[in-house]
Amino acid sequence: MQVSEMRALRLIFYTKTQRLQRLHPSIPNSLSSFPQFSRHFLHSTPSLHHSNSTAETAPRAWSIYDHAPGTDGNGNAKKPNLDIVGNKKKGKARFSWVCADCGHSDGQWWGACRECNAVGTLKRFSEGGSAEVSEGKTWLSPKAGESRPMRLTDVNRGINQLNWRIPLHGPFGNEVSRVLGGGIVPGSLVLVGGDPGVGKSTLLLQIAAMIAERNDLGQPAPVVYVSGEESVEQIGNRADRLSIGADELFLYSNTEIEDILGKSQPLSPRVIIVDSIQTVYLQGVAGSAGGPAQVKECTSALLRFAKRTNIPILLIGHVTKSGDLAGPHVLEHIVDVVLYMEGEKYSSYRLLRSLKNRFGSTDELGVFEMSPSGLQAVSNPSEMFLSDQYSDSEYLAGLAVAVIMDGSRTFLIEVQALCASGSTASRQVNGIQASRADMIISVLMKQTGLKLQEDAIFLNVVSGVKLSETAGDLAVAAAICSSFLEFPIPNNIAFIGEVGLGGELRTVPRMEKRLNTVAKLGYKMCIVPKSAEKSLGSHGFEGMEIIGCRNLKEVINTVFRAH
Ligand code: TYD
Ligand code: MG
Repeated sequence: MQVSEMRALRLIFYTKTQRLQRLHPSIPNSLSSFPQFSRHFLHSTPSLHHSNSTAETAPRAWSIYDHAPGTDGNGNAKKPNLDIVGNKKKGKARFSWVCADCGHSDGQWWGACRECNAVGTLKRFSEGGSAEVSEGKTWLSPKAGESRPMRLTDVNRGINQLNWRIPLHGPFGNEVSRVLGGGIVPGSLVLVGGDPGVGKSTLLLQIAAMIAERNDLGQPAPVVYVSGEESVEQIGNRADRLSIGADELFLYSNTEIEDILGKSQPLSPRVIIVDSIQTVYLQGVAGSAGGPAQVKECTSALLRFAKRTNIPILLIGHVTKSGDLAGPHVLEHIVDVVLYMEGEKYSSYRLLRSLKNRFGSTDELGVFEMSPSGLQAVSNPSEMFLSDQYSDSEYLAGLAVAVIMDGSRTFLIEVQALCASGSTASRQVNGIQASRADMIISVLMKQTGLKLQEDAIFLNVVSGVKLSETAGDLAVAAAICSSFLEFPIPNNIAFIGEVGLGGELRTVPRMEKRLNTVAKLGYKMCIVPKSAEKSLGSHGFEGMEIIGCRNLKEVINTVFRAH
C-alpha cells in the first residue's frame, strides 16, 4: 500500500472513529489500540476491535484473494460489515474515492475534493471482500493456520536435491536447462518475456512437448498449454509444423484463471503453460485483462496455485516498446524466475537470458537458432557471429576478431573497418558505441601517428551484434589499422584488450576463459595486454601463441610487419 493511501486510511479511520465514538463511547479512539493496522477495521463491528487475539492475527495483505471465502484468514467466520465508507451495493465490487489530504470519502471521482477543495487528491480504494471466490477453489486463497515453522532437516529429508528438478533432455533441453539453472523447479512460476514475434510461444510449446513426450522418469507426462491468444486449432497447426505429436500434451484456449486452473488440476499436469499473462483475467478484480490490477492479481493467484500444488507454471509476458515487461513492475517481484528472449530482427539467432532466478545463477545464456522447424540449440555458439567470408579473408584488409563474453559464454566477433581516403572525412559506426569508436580513432591518431583525420572511416560489427564490452577495443583499433595500412590480418589471429587514452593496453576480466575458447577454435595467435600475459603464467593454450603488448604501437609493430 502506498504511504499516501495509508495516510488517507488512517485519516478516515480517525474521523470515522471519532464520529462512532460519539455514538458508542466504548469504541477505542486511537490506532494504537489495535496491534495491527488492517483495512479490516473498516468492516468490523465495535466488539471485534476489542478482541486482541483477532486483531493480532489479522493478515496485512491487501489482495482480495488472501482470505478463504467467508473467513477472516484464521478460519473464523467474518463479522458482519459495518458500512462506513462509500456507497455499497451487495455483491458488486465496491470502490470509494478518498481524499489523501483530509480523508473525505466519496462514492464517485471528482476533480477536487468536495470537503477541502484540494485538487487531484482523490485516490480509489477497493474495499475488498467483494469479489466472491467460488467454494472449493481454495488454491486462490492461502490456508492460514495450516502451515507451521519447520526444521531445515525435516524440510530437506526425503528430497533428493539432484533429482529434484524436472530435467530437460537433448541439445535443446540442455540449453533451456542451463538458463533455468538445471531444469524446472516444481512449484515455480517462470515468466518468459520478449518482443512480439521473437519466438516465446514457439519456445514454450517446444518445452511443453519435450516434457509431454518424456518426463524425468522417461515416461510421458501430461502438460497443459493454455493460450489466451490463439485458438486450439492455431496452436495445433504450429505443433504440426514443429512435428510435435505428444499424446499427453493438452491444449486449451481460455482466458479465465479460475476456469483454467480448475480444468487443468484434474489432469495432474507436470507443467502448465499460460500464454500470456496479459490476456488472462480473474473474475471480481477491477479492470480489463492486461491492466495493472488484473496482471498483479492473476500472477499472485498463479503463484499460489503453483506453490500449493507443486505444479510449475511457465508464463509468457509481453514487453513494451521500451523493452520493459508490460504491466506493473511488481510482476517481476512476484514470479520466481524471469527469462528474457531476444533476437535481432533480421537474424535467426535467439538468446535466452535469465534476469532473475531464485533457483540459480543469472549469469547464463541460452543460444538458439529459429529454423523452419522451430528453435534449435546452436552447437558452436562461439563461432556463430563470424561471417563465412572470414575463413578466406586472408586477402581482405580491415577485418579483426574480438573475443567478448556474455554471461558465462565466450563469443568471437568480427569487426570490420573501412578507411576511405579522398572522400569527405566522416565517421559511420554500426554495432559499436559511437563515442567509444571516436575515442579509439583519436588515440590511434595521437599515440601511433596514423593520419586518419583525412579519411572517411566506417566501422561495422558483423551479424548485427552490439559490441558493448571494452575487451573489443583492441580488435576495433586493429581493424582500422589494417584498413588504413591496407595490410590484411592473418585470419588465425584474435585480439583481446581494452585501449586506454595513452594508447596503453589494459587487461579485461576472465582472460583465461576467453583464451581457452580461442585456442579450441584453432587460432594460432592471440594479442593480449602485457599485464594479462604475466598473470596467465605458463598456461598452455593448445599450442596457440600468446603475445603480450604494452601499447598500440607494439601491436602495430607485431601484427603489421611482413611475415
Ligand atoms: P512466436 O513463437 O509466435 O513468437 P511470439 O510468441 O514471441 O510472438 O514466433 C513467431 C515467429 O517465429 C514467426 O515470425 C515465425 C517464426 N517461426 C519460425 O521461423 N519457425 C517455426 O517453426 C515457427 C513455429 C515460428
Ligand atoms: Mg506468442
